[in-house]
Amino acid sequence: MAEEPRLVPVRYEFDELVLRPFGPADAAELQRASVASYEHLKPWMPWAKQDLTVAEAEVTCRRLAAEYMSDTNYTVGVWNGDRLLGGSGFHLRCGPVEWRCAEIGMWIHGDHAGRGLGTRVLAGMLEWGFGDWGWERLVWKCDTRNVASARVAEKCGMNLEATHRSDSVSVEGKRVDTHLYAILRPEWAAFRAQT
Ligand SMILES: CC(C)(COP(=O)(O)OP(=O)(O)OC[C@H]1O[C@@H](n2cnc3c(N)ncnc32)[C@H](O)[C@@H]1OP(=O)(O)O)[C@@H](O)C(=O)NCCC(=O)NCCS
Repeated sequence: MAEEPRLVPVRYEFDELVLRPFGPADAAELQRASVASYEHLKPWMPWAKQDLTVAEAEVTCRRLAAEYMSDTNYTVGVWNGDRLLGGSGFHLRCGPVEWRCAEIGMWIHGDHAGRGLGTRVLAGMLEWGFGDWGWERLVWKCDTRNVASARVAEKCGMNLEATHRSDSVSVEGKRVDTHLYAILRPEWAAFRAQT
């Protein structure tokens, strides 16, 4: 008998939050959240744009939806009701999907940053990722200057495996170093059990 196709998860609810892929109807909210967060995102996210239009946001939403549904990149919004509080995702930058390794990315709305939300969302992504998704290894990369990002990874039990020297280029065009954090499925289970 032929093997059943693997259908990736499309929704995760925890606390009052929902993680789900973007669709065209999310354009206005994505535009509002990313423009409002511009100053917060600017140092770290090259895609941040102060004058993003709803039409441009809809192009992004459609692209992200297409990537998700074609199994090439899994970006999700972080929603509280109809308010977008940020974005995250499982990105296939660690080899083919069969290897069961992905990189988690994240941004948090500027008005909600620094209040523990990023840590909660990463914990949710790890729980969902090692649960329904079936990842075996999840990775987090950040510019070594991005203290908040590194702390979020550490607070969720991720291990600093390496610091890559001069391997990336910052938003301002300078060569920068990158921390590589990772966590394996059994490590997440152990971390969960002790916290
Ligand atoms: C990085 C980011 C996802 C963290 O999410 P957050 O909700 O702001 O973080 P939290 O409130 O959960 O804080 C986690 C830790 O970082 C620390 N932190 C938060 N903002 C900080 C800042 N600006 N400078 C230094 N430390 C900071 C917190 O104090 C906390 O550590 P502690 O418990 O030891 O005190 C978020 O700030 C963000 O969107 N940044 C811009 C985009 C980005 O850098 N994304 C990550 C790319 S790798």
